[in-house]
Amino acid sequence: MGRFEGKVVLVTGAAGGIGLSVVQKFRAEGAKVAVADRDTSAVAADAHLPGNLLEPAYADGLPGAAVAALGRLDIVINNAGVITRGPVSETSDADWALSVGVNMEAPFRVSRAAINIMAEAGGGAIVNTASCWGLRPGPNHAVYCMTKAALASLTQCMGMDHAHQGIRINAVAPNEVNTPMLRTGFAKRGFDPDTAIAELGKSVPIGHVADPEEIADVILFLASEDARYMCGSIVEVNGGKPVK
Ligand SMILES: NC(=O)c1ccc[n+]([C@@H]2O[C@H](COP(=O)([O-])OP(=O)(O)OC[C@H]3O[C@@H](n4cnc5c(N)ncnc54)[C@H](O)[C@@H]3O)[C@@H](O)[C@H]2O)c1
Repeated sequence: MGRFEGKVVLVTGAAGGIGLSVVQKFRAEGAKVAVADRDTSAVAADAHLPGNLLEPAYADGLPGAAVAALGRLDIVINNAGVITRGPVSETSDADWALSVGVNMEAPFRVSRAAINIMAEAGGGAIVNTASCWGLRPGPNHAVYCMTKAALASLTQCMGMDHAHQGIRINAVAPNEVNTPMLRTGFAKRGFDPDTAIAELGKSVPIGHVADPEEIADVILFLASEDARYMCGSIVEVNGGKPVK
């Protein structure tokens, strides 16, 4: 029997690199999964809840929509994210609104609604995808780092505030991961993604850039009973590579 038999999970960013792996792993371990992303049509799932997390009503409504579709809500993975590059002096209003909206405001809205549902039901777990680049400054990604720092702080605060309700809230903080987010960044700057990722892998002490599965496994651990005493933790998953 899988670790998540009988559980219902909501995953945002489910069509992306880490999200897709998370969805597949939860389903393989017995969970029913509701998937949220702008387009979820390519994702095998138990319920599809496509939409734009920049729309407050959509983000507010996602946990309730998961309950309406699958009957309950035990686990939420706030994984959707966007990366904007550049120092503050080169950050447009549009980049600011996008980063704050997707990386900070949406997890706040989804968590708020989910906590109310989980509290009523007697417990649950939320795992947020933060970043090593929010725990220490990385060059030329000021607003991205800020939003991930805020998400890490929100995780710590929520983890403390809602433990008494049986709701455990934690975050994973990856360094670089081989997903469309990283690959399109290389492509935009004129590099071949495979070559660039192999080259970047040489800077990681464990020898390669993380595969999405290596992050998803830690997300599932944090959502599982194995992590039953963890509340408000930020788990770095970085192959030994510091931010610099
Ligand atoms: N790839 C990395 O190197 C890396 C490192 C650290 C943290 N992260 C974080 O991991 C998470 C997953 O990223 P990934 O690497 O799998 O990237 P990805 O781009 O493959 O996936 C992100 C997903 O979020 C979705 N999304 C973005 N904006 C949305 C919106 N407005 N409404 C609905 N969905 C939206 C995208 O459609 C996409 O499917 C993100 O929060 C990211 O910041 C990634």
